[in-house]
Amino acid sequence: MRKQIVAGNWKMNNDLSQTESLINELKSKTKTSNAEVMVAPTFTNLYHAYGVLKNTNIEVIAQNMHFAENGAYTGEISASMLKSIGIETVILGHSERREYFNETDELLAKKVDAALAKGMRVIFCFGEELADRKSGNEEAVVGNQIKNALFHLDTASYQNIVLAYEPVWAIGTGETASPEQAQDMHAFIRKTLADKYGNDVADEVSILYGGSVKPANAEEIFSKPDVDGGLIGGAALKADDFFDIVNAF
Ligand code: G3P
Repeated sequence: MRKQIVAGNWKMNNDLSQTESLINELKSKTKTSNAEVMVAPTFTNLYHAYGVLKNTNIEVIAQNMHFAENGAYTGEISASMLKSIGIETVILGHSERREYFNETDELLAKKVDAALAKGMRVIFCFGEELADRKSGNEEAVVGNQIKNALFHLDTASYQNIVLAYEPVWAIGTGETASPEQAQDMHAFIRKTLADKYGNDVADEVSILYGGSVKPANAEEIFSKPDVDGGLIGGAALKADDFFDIVNAF
């Protein structure tokens, strides 16, 4: 049975005080679903958040990392540094990093390898632009993003891979993909994996949807057979909304 996961990507939000307030609110919430729950604060708040949440059912994860072990990469963070503060999962390939920091499929393949080499779990993000969908190229774009960054991996690696389909046109816009659009793309993604690695691997990989998931739409999106949860942005910054989504399964 593949895992159901709801992960909150806080992006560049919350200073230490705001982080403290939000994680204490999250600690007080009751999880009524079987979903694994994760939150991704900014780097400056990771260690504190990990310390507060380490004995709860909420995992603290990172929003990014560099592919190098260490060295002359000013401002960057390595997998070993994340592991040293208890962080075991990292989001990679988010569209905002692709857009604003020019992260290519090739660079992301190196980051995925570095995370897996340290035994970390990767939430790998991808998704088409609005122009791709309007021109009917969404499956070609998504398929290439997956193949270019992940298809060098062996089957065993997929035990530590979670996929996150985030149509760029739905991120932060309120324009959520319809449940049918999400299911169609998730089914395509799972078939793409199955064609390469076989059904046994493809059926075990959790595929999350991200892009304007809210308490009002989460249940219908999560009800789709190939949707295994969500990667949540704006709604993750409000404890009530985030746990309404967590409990939407
Ligand atoms: O990584 C999740 C994020 O990109 C989705 O953002 O605000 O549309 O839920 P949002």
